Amino acid sequence: MVTGASSGIGYELAILCAKDGFDLLVVADDPKIEEAAKQFQNYGVEVHAVQADLATREGVDKFYNTAQGRQVDLLLANAGHGLGGGFLDQDFDQIRHVIDTNITGTIYLIQKVGKEMRRRKEGRILITGSVAGFTPGTYSAVYNGTKAFIDSFSFALRAELKNEDSNVTVTCLMPGATETEFFERAGMEDTKVGQEEKDDPADVAKVGYEAMMNGEGDVVSGFKNKVMTTVASVTPAGMLAEQHRKKAEPGSGRDN
Ligand SMILES: NC(=O)c1ccc[n+]([C@@H]2O[C@H](COP(=O)([O-])OP(=O)(O)OC[C@H]3O[C@@H](n4cnc5c(N)ncnc54)[C@H](OP(=O)(O)O)[C@@H]3O)[C@@H](O)[C@H]2O)c1
Repeated sequence: MVTGASSGIGYELAILCAKDGFDLLVVADDPKIEEAAKQFQNYGVEVHAVQADLATREGVDKFYNTAQGRQVDLLLANAGHGLGGGFLDQDFDQIRHVIDTNITGTIYLIQKVGKEMRRRKEGRILITGSVAGFTPGTYSAVYNGTKAFIDSFSFALRAELKNEDSNVTVTCLMPGATETEFFERAGMEDTKVGQEEKDDPADVAKVGYEAMMNGEGDVVSGFKNKVMTTVASVTPAGMLAEQHRKKAEPGSGRDN
């Protein structure tokens, strides 16, 4: 099961699963998921594509029910999106959609699939968190908050499952800025981070996929991001918030 497989990191994760011979159940909110599914079929695996809004319980149920009780070996909970701009100027429905996709829908699906994995004592879960979870996200406050939740949640669930003596592993992939549709969708194209050079989503996905298959707890993709997260863990939050302002403030991009 791969969520958010129509583009970016999720698309590349689905390709890696297909290359390893896993049948795929993929989901996104847009009809583009059907085109992506055709690409995945080229690897000779069975592919089912679902169009659903994972910000809603109905959307998650629709996706989950498509599995029709089939064993889920891998769950790659990757779907998510950002929202740039000042918090007080953001539309609350959009804020809510970020939280409901990145947190509520994500953990609702993980709970459903995780219960089955626990029963079988077998399974791998990869959650796409972010290095954003290490930093208060000035001009991306809600998004960074959702990723702080996800990074934290992932470690806690992993520890709970370890205690239950199961072979179910939980891995958190924490990418840095990656060249996907993310910044355009978040309305952050005019920001410094939106315009700077970013990591290749295929490289990021490979790092995450391998960490999941090895049962690792977490992986930060890219050397620069590893340094950033190490430094962030000993930097005062107020200083991190000011650093984030420089790269995420609307109009902070080089071309502006
Ligand atoms: N790009 C970065 O710099 C970066 C850095 C760190 C972490 N991440 C995380 O990486 C993950 C993948 O993002 P990406 O960078 O690959 O961006 P992307 O190219 O925009 O891909 C996001 C995927 O998630 C799906 N999605 C978003 N909201 C959804 C919803 N409510 N219901 C169903 N599907 C939904 C999108 O499908 P639809 O188009 O159909 O909505 C798309 O398939 C996200 O969790 C993001 O937070 C990204």
